[in-house]
Amino acid sequence: MALVDLIDRTRLPQHIAIIMDGNGRWARRQGEERIFGHRNAIAAVRAAAEGCSELSIPYLTLYAFSTENWARPRQEVDALMELMVETIHRELKTLMAHNIRLRTIGDLKGLPAKCARELEEAVACSRLNTGLNLILAVNYSSKWELTEAMRKLAYQVQEGSLDPEEITDATISAALQTAGIPFPELMIRTSGEMRLSNFLLWQLAYAELYFTPVLWPDFSKEDLFEAILEFQKRERRFGMTSEQIKAL
Ligand code: IPE
Ligand code: IPE
Ligand code: MG
Repeated sequence: MALVDLIDRTRLPQHIAIIMDGNGRWARRQGEERIFGHRNAIAAVRAAAEGCSELSIPYLTLYAFSTENWARPRQEVDALMELMVETIHRELKTLMAHNIRLRTIGDLKGLPAKCARELEEAVACSRLNTGLNLILAVNYSSKWELTEAMRKLAYQVQEGSLDPEEITDATISAALQTAGIPFPELMIRTSGEMRLSNFLLWQLAYAELYFTPVLWPDFSKEDLFEAILEFQKRERRFGMTSEQIKAL
């Protein structure tokens, strides 16, 4: 029986977030430059998007470039930006053919103009697509996002349009880049690292975390299905007791 057939279609995560990690190590293991790993990462992006589409999972967020990644060698950063421009340009037709809506979170203003433009064009072009929402986190970090949200709310208070007493969990969620998008229920990180690296700290508050040693360029649809199967084995208690959950 294929792995996909073991998945319970009635209990799918509605949003999966992935920290795509391990490209550099994947390349180094073969005696290649790190950028070779980034180039070979596109197939895994395709596999993850196809896997989600196949299961009609509506949201997939991929961490593509963190604000901390600017600290990498200039040559690697430039190559990553170039690769992003090329890939978005080349894959736009495929996104449209698969009814995928591309979205972004992160500070696009901080990207090279060409890169921001390519992303904005693909986002605009695919905005009416009704299939998978593919959300790329680019020049993103959670602390940046939270800082921006706090600033926005502080200005609203200063203007008198927001009463501090009325600030709730929902007000804060709505001020984030992910406003209107349900929180991820499953977070996958590849390459064996067990940390969040400034990714969706607020939104992942109750997500199930799944870590796999697979390096991102090797990540396949089967790896995604395995993560979903593991998610379905977990009991999500949200503070309640196991007995309460079973009685629901
Ligand atoms: C993830 O792979 C891709 C980005 C962060 C852009 P890495 O480049 O972090 O690969 P490792 O972790 O060095 O192997
Ligand atoms: C996290 O990976 C960022 C992305 C996947 C884009 P890193 O490889 O940059 O994370 P750290 O620095 O090892 O935590
Ligand atoms: Mg890494």
